[in-house]
Amino acid sequence: MKYVRLGERCGLKVSAISLGTWHLPRLPERDEAGAYKIDYEEFKRILKRAYDEGLNFIDTANRYHGGIAPVPLTHVGYAERLLGAAIKELGLDREELVIATKVAGRMSPGPNGEGLSRKHIMWQIRESLRRLQTDYIDVYYAHTFDPETPKLETLTTFNDLVRQGLVRYIGMSNIPAWHLAEYAVLAEERGLEPIVVLQYRYNLLDRSLEADIIPLAKRFGMGLAAYSPLAEGVLTGKYVDFEAGKWKVPSGSRGEYRDMSRYFTDRNLRILSKLRELASERGVTMAQLALAWLINVGEKVWGIPIVPIVGATKLQHLEEALGALSLNLSHDDLKALDEATRAP
Ligand SMILES: NC(=O)c1ccc[n+]([C@@H]2O[C@H](COP(=O)([O-])OP(=O)(O)OC[C@H]3O[C@@H](n4cnc5c(N)ncnc54)[C@H](OP(=O)(O)O)[C@@H]3O)[C@@H](O)[C@H]2O)c1
Repeated sequence: MKYVRLGERCGLKVSAISLGTWHLPRLPERDEAGAYKIDYEEFKRILKRAYDEGLNFIDTANRYHGGIAPVPLTHVGYAERLLGAAIKELGLDREELVIATKVAGRMSPGPNGEGLSRKHIMWQIRESLRRLQTDYIDVYYAHTFDPETPKLETLTTFNDLVRQGLVRYIGMSNIPAWHLAEYAVLAEERGLEPIVVLQYRYNLLDRSLEADIIPLAKRFGMGLAAYSPLAEGVLTGKYVDFEAGKWKVPSGSRGEYRDMSRYFTDRNLRILSKLRELASERGVTMAQLALAWLINVGEKVWGIPIVPIVGATKLQHLEEALGALSLNLSHDDLKALDEATRAP
């Protein structure tokens, strides 16, 4: 396994890919809320295989369920619970793992049931630790922006969590660029724990964060954990009938229970056809090319560590993702990919 230091502001080393838990392996049955039952045995196989390969960076969030999104309040916390149980049952060494989780999303109906206030964070850290069956979190992210809590309140609370030994490092996700800059400057000015890592959607079909978040990450020495690196599976090519030049929803895919129509554009169809050619020329799968692009573009173009967080609902998905680690893309490869994704 290849390891990267998660940015200039920390000594934490993580595997070059991370494993996500937003969507977990599913059984065919659904419950009364429409949530899929989770194939816990397959999840454990994936986690064990990842661990045995040296993949140490695991991503979850307090709100995740694993078989439904958006998650109703009756189902929040389930993914953390399964992850905690699986780590215990498999006998994985906690100290070898880097567990990331998140706070901010709604966890209860009351006025303090969501957000980045001290009250909410201090409640949710306890809950996450209990569900994950651990006594500390390695990376604790603010999951989304909370416009109603003063930034200093959130930063000092995170700082306290680190001082109390409950959290090791702080991260931020999905926060608009100028608010993020304000958090970063405030932490710096007040001598508070820095934001060491960011988590945003970044993939070959959605490069919007290159305009502001990436320069900001570079300026502040932050690493980037890239979520939906395969555009929720679209970048594998499985949603395209290439012969007919049309979109399709394959059976058993996420598209069967989540609206993927925002991906189904003519522009994306053109990009995917080009990516398919580039992958086949290099003898790799489209998923491997998309994951390798993130790792390589971070290293060779932006100069920041970019760690794709892969979602695997089958062991095979993880195997394919691991195969991307040995794919070294040249500057010409990166140029070709850049051009392919700039299709009008
Ligand atoms: N901070 C945030 O707000 C945020 C938001 C989203 C995600 N995340 C994190 O990022 C992680 C990854 O996000 P994501 O699940 O959207 O990532 P993704 O890698 O873009 O999509 C993963 C999905 O693609 C399909 N897939 C993966 N590999 C495949 C392969 N080789 N062949 C065919 N299909 C394949 C699987 O779906 P099916 O088999 O079900 O079709 C899988 O669940 C999440 O688990 C979560 O930890 C964070």
